[in-house]
Amino acid sequence: MNRNKLVEAKVPFVFSKENKEELDKHISKYPDGRGASAVMPALDLAQRQNAGWISKEAIETIAATLKMPVIKVWEVASFYTMYNLEPVGKHLIQVCRTTSCWLRGSEEVLSSCRKYSGADVGRPSKDGLFSLMEVECLGACVNAPMVQINDDYYEDLDAEKMKNIIEDLKAGKNHSIGPQVNRLNSAPITGALTGIDTKAEKGQS
Ligand code: FES
Repeated sequence: MNRNKLVEAKVPFVFSKENKEELDKHISKYPDGRGASAVMPALDLAQRQNAGWISKEAIETIAATLKMPVIKVWEVASFYTMYNLEPVGKHLIQVCRTTSCWLRGSEEVLSSCRKYSGADVGRPSKDGLFSLMEVECLGACVNAPMVQINDDYYEDLDAEKMKNIIEDLKAGKNHSIGPQVNRLNSAPITGALTGIDTKAEKGQS
């Protein structure tokens, strides 16, 4: 993912009425003259409005709105990998490659993403549906391996489960989020292991 240059959309960026109202709420949390403190929510709102990425025009609009130098807005946008500085597919798949996920099969999950989405790391699919990123730990290690797609986590994956998710997204269907095995959130896969009456288990009264 490009983080070194601003990409022009070649159309002006203007916050929608709803997003401008939302941004004004964030700005109002800070003392007068400190609107720059709202730069992160401003970037997030701009990205959501702009099909998942932040254009040069959006950076300039944010800078003017928050009375900041353009370079300061760009510094923040290029530091945090959650901001995309180039166009992305409709579904941005972030594959965790850190230790727990790697040990549990993230290589196979990534291969499945490549094979079925048509995207590769740094190259969106031709149909514009998918982009693929390798990322560091997303904090769901107990459900490794996992991916994040847009705002949602898909956990306890393998190559086949990843394929099914991608096929559903291609078909415009909803796919259940969270664990892809039979467990609640990150509860033990074998069922509850706490709150067991050990005396009853041993047949004692
Ligand atoms: S190592 Fe993948 S979520 Fe932590």
